[in-house]
Amino acid sequence: MTAPVCVSAPAKINLHLEVLGLRNDGFHELAMVMQSIDLADQLECENTADGSLSLSCDQPGLSCGDDNLIMRAARLLRDRSGFGELGARMHLRKRIPIGAGLAGGSSDGAAALVALNTLWGLGLTLSRLETLAADLGSDMPFCIAGGTQLCFGRGERLERLPAVSAPMGVVLVKDPSISVSTPWAYGECKRQRGNHYLEGESAFEQRREALRSSGWLHPLRAESPPPLLNDLQAVVAPQTISVRKALSLLESLSGQVRVAMSGSGPSCFALFPDRETAEQARQSSAQLFEAEGLQSWSCSLLPHGVKLAS
Ligand code: C5P
Repeated sequence: MTAPVCVSAPAKINLHLEVLGLRNDGFHELAMVMQSIDLADQLECENTADGSLSLSCDQPGLSCGDDNLIMRAARLLRDRSGFGELGARMHLRKRIPIGAGLAGGSSDGAAALVALNTLWGLGLTLSRLETLAADLGSDMPFCIAGGTQLCFGRGERLERLPAVSAPMGVVLVKDPSISVSTPWAYGECKRQRGNHYLEGESAFEQRREALRSSGWLHPLRAESPPPLLNDLQAVVAPQTISVRKALSLLESLSGQVRVAMSGSGPSCFALFPDRETAEQARQSSAQLFEAEGLQSWSCSLLPHGVKLAS
């Protein structure tokens, strides 16, 4: 019996999310800059002698059944490995808020691929794991190596960016009673845009090239981070009062350098020069956040994604 394997599964924020167009497969063509943060779930996996796969979680509201991305990832990896007798007992410690636009579920699924690849001694490369991850979710390939990356296609075409040079801090807020459905947000985007999408590979490539040659190519600097953009913010914020409140409270925090919604929301975040300034700002506005029904966290940008615990 091999020793249990424990991995951390960090959340992500979107520093840039541009909806370029509609693809033939019905998904949207995106140009994104994704960034890992050190708000993370923990996944522990151990071998089972009877070849069964099971998942438990410290958060009672979360389904641990076959629909959970961890279980789907485990089954996919086992099927593709050709070793149908492999089994694992898995336990998730959940810290990332659910349905928040922080890729918590995707990062958990990515963590399962990395942990079980190690536990089962399969020796698949990161790039092979990223390809498997793309079959399960658009954000999942990024979550494997994480850090700062350009993500194109529906999110699976990855280009690594230089690691963050400044230890920037983040204040993250979310109304715990609200979650936004990603299909709904993209559906609304499609309805609002109508025919106003870019069309054709060369138009998409022009936007990718613009992003590659923008400020994001240089290591992120606290004093002059490029402006943030999230096209889904313009879709979600007008229909979600807690997002508008969150954005306006974050804008008012002293020391913040940029504010945006993450993914399809409803989480919003502000960037700060460092974690200490972020935590000070969070603490000084803790009562305001609470009064508006918003949970808040402070954290740092992280130069990696899923990681084996040492
Ligand atoms: O891939 P994922 O399961 O995260 O996608 C959830 C839904 O979000 C998709 O079914 C689709 O409706 C929408 N989506 C999209 N374009 C993307 C990513 C997601 O339209 N690039």
